[in-house]
Amino acid sequence: MAVSSCDLPAEKKSTDKDTTLNVTYKLNPNNFEQTINDKKVKLYTLKNNKGASVAITNFGGRVVSLMVPDKNNVLTDVVLGYDDLKGYQSQPENYFGAIIGRYGNRIAKGKFNLAGKSYQLDINDGVNTLHGGYNGFYKQVFDAVQPDSSSLELTYTSKDGEGGYPGTLNVKVVYNLTADDALRIAYTATTDKTTLVNMTNHAYFNLNGEGKGSILNHLLMIKADAITPVDTKLIPTGKLQAVKGTPFDFTTAKAIGANINDRNEQLKNGKGYDHNFVLTKHTLSQSVATVISPETGIVMDIYTDEPGLQFYSGNFLTGKTHDGRGGKAYDYRSAFCLETQHFPDAPNQPAFASTVLKPGQTYHTITEYRFSIKK
Ligand code: BGC
Repeated sequence: MAVSSCDLPAEKKSTDKDTTLNVTYKLNPNNFEQTINDKKVKLYTLKNNKGASVAITNFGGRVVSLMVPDKNNVLTDVVLGYDDLKGYQSQPENYFGAIIGRYGNRIAKGKFNLAGKSYQLDINDGVNTLHGGYNGFYKQVFDAVQPDSSSLELTYTSKDGEGGYPGTLNVKVVYNLTADDALRIAYTATTDKTTLVNMTNHAYFNLNGEGKGSILNHLLMIKADAITPVDTKLIPTGKLQAVKGTPFDFTTAKAIGANINDRNEQLKNGKGYDHNFVLTKHTLSQSVATVISPETGIVMDIYTDEPGLQFYSGNFLTGKTHDGRGGKAYDYRSAFCLETQHFPDAPNQPAFASTVLKPGQTYHTITEYRFSIKK
């Protein structure tokens, strides 16, 4: 059953002094209704009994809004987004909240060899391919089914050769807002030819609230002893680099801004943090990273079975070109991304875990963004 994003939760209707139930409820679902490639695009809202909600459009499977309570029980939207579909189609930042596929992150020069053949992908990021190319999943319309008020199932068939990738890929992504304020994303894919898959979600988070300025005061902890260092085009060198004694050491929580301006070759190459962290453990039973907003007290814990986490500190956001919800300027470093993934350029890096999917196999991965309040 689809739930309109205009419905206020029942318990809020009578007593509603709660001025703070803002952004999701101002999103107008009509602004997301359009037919693209003969498919209907809509805005879906998932809710749990505690008042948290997430708005998702099936255009790119994007998380448009994610409302969670802060320390004063004020619902706060913690992801950047636009008011309407047009924003998602026309703004220079392609990936806000999107499902990324077939391959999250970069593949050097968009080339790889597989099963004795060489392939050329779209070159959409300097000399490389990024996030599935020009027509990656972020631009595709998924079929959507809402089995209940807290989940959404999205499916998409990526044609053989789409973006340069071999094989027909049948993709399913299930979003679920759990009773304990976690946004759980389960990805599944199957293929009819040997291919590559590495999916993720590209939400831009600001736990102070979207549009509330810099994220440099957020405290971040990542359970990773190493990163995969990159060249100036953000392609991994293929080696691992220990974080100890470097600005990349987030093994104990520190402010994102604490060392971001240090003199460091990797920070220079990434124009800030834009690196894959090698997670020490990646099971769903313990978190791999934690972020805390000192302003709202909102805590986000990430759980994943993926081996890598791309920490991107919003270095390419510029207030001028990223006018966000309600006309807010999304300035430089006013959001961060933590994208769970296999390592960048794995198809060309023999030492990195494989991203190959063969017919008969099922790609399956789960990531959870779990929200709470700092005690
Ligand atoms: C990449 C950045 C890129 C950004 C685009 C991130 O996943 O690591 O380099 O600029 O996506 O939005």
